[in-house]
Amino acid sequence: MKLVGMDSRRLLKLNMTKTINGFSKLSKIEKIKWLAGQFCEDSAAAEQEFTTWKHPDAAIQNVIDGFAENTVANYALPYSIAPNFLINGKTYAVPMVIEESSVVAAASSAAKFWQARGGFHAEVLGTVKLGQVHFYWPGNPDKLRAIFPELKACLLDACGDLTANMDQRGGGILDLDLISFEAIEPEYYQLRASFETCDSMGANFINSVLERFADALEDFFTRFPGLSDSERDAEVVMSILSNYTPNCLVRAWVECPIESFADLARSQGMDATTLAHRFARAVRIAQIDPYRATTHNKGIYNGIDAVVLATGNDFRAIEACGHTYASRDGQYRSLSSCTVHDGIFRFELEIPLALGTVGGLTSLHPLAKRSLEILGNPSARELMCITATVGLAQNFGAVRSLITTGIQHGHMKMHLTNILNHLGSNPEEAAAAQQFFQNQTVSFSAVRSFLAEQRS
Ligand code: MEV
Repeated sequence: MKLVGMDSRRLLKLNMTKTINGFSKLSKIEKIKWLAGQFCEDSAAAEQEFTTWKHPDAAIQNVIDGFAENTVANYALPYSIAPNFLINGKTYAVPMVIEESSVVAAASSAAKFWQARGGFHAEVLGTVKLGQVHFYWPGNPDKLRAIFPELKACLLDACGDLTANMDQRGGGILDLDLISFEAIEPEYYQLRASFETCDSMGANFINSVLERFADALEDFFTRFPGLSDSERDAEVVMSILSNYTPNCLVRAWVECPIESFADLARSQGMDATTLAHRFARAVRIAQIDPYRATTHNKGIYNGIDAVVLATGNDFRAIEACGHTYASRDGQYRSLSSCTVHDGIFRFELEIPLALGTVGGLTSLHPLAKRSLEILGNPSARELMCITATVGLAQNFGAVRSLITTGIQHGHMKMHLTNILNHLGSNPEEAAAAQQFFQNQTVSFSAVRSFLAEQRS
């Protein structure tokens, strides 16, 4: 095949194998040089870019590099603040890390709206975390159930040194159950352990305890009197925490008389009752239809993930858990619910959030630490309340837009700024465009034409 117009350097790059042994052993600058040289058309520019995206303080950069492997640069996302969150009578300015236009604006606007209506309320319903040891055992299930009390005592006994600190902080192992899956998978059992990890997310603590359980379990069967030879052979397949924590749960809610919607409703040419009922219907639809529920819950996680990221928590764990919880009755549904009764509008979110405010990234990442300071160095329980509230506010903002102006109105205003930046507009052009597009549909090509006209 003849590649017309392509210079020999580019052709050479295309033909390279692009595989490498020992990448992790290279220094950062060597990694960058290899990467830029192999994959980027303008390798000098790429090299310059990768080396620029770093923290000016080498010690801090070192900490950031320690979070992952093969790091070549820092990836920037906006760090924003949504102020005026009145939650349980206390006002917070909430840090949010998110790249999507209008999420922070929507959260801030919902915060302001509810600040004038008594604020948000939130309560923690539970803080139980879970872990599992999955094992196969060839004996009789009844026999295993009969000896389980002794096994349990032995396992708990084996963990004394691991749990001492957590016990002192008021946490530790709460319970340990044996679950048989005999009916589905012969010889498969599970130890299901529950934990209280206080202000830490607790993953390391839980996994260390589970691995100790696993060793002690195998050992127990080799020593326990009266077992046959085959019954001495328990096979632990794996030991790991479960990210599904339905009892690490928080509820956030708002409520107000329907008349409190009068101004908002009037601005949309509706009455307050119609607006409240239409809102409740929109939420109801997300409870009935999984297609809508997925988008509805995505809107909730726009807020949740942004706070989770800003505070150095694990957003993958939080999302995985929430989506399982949303399917707990066998169908994926909305995580929020809404009622309108006796003239009172109530909007509520119940969501599992296994968050920590000590340990892990929360104390290592400079901005995560700063986020927690801005939030008043909350306990994990307080952070659960704040995070759930932002999810509820986000959901409120999205549904309010959907049932009134439509979502594109707000989105496109922010999107316009991004397009203008992308097209290199100067402040005068940007101001003219903001004015012009107030009543026009924003699209990339429309903005480009507008700027071209301005420039000509
Ligand atoms: C967009 O990121 C989120 C929404 O789609 C959520 C929703 O539809 O409820 C606006």
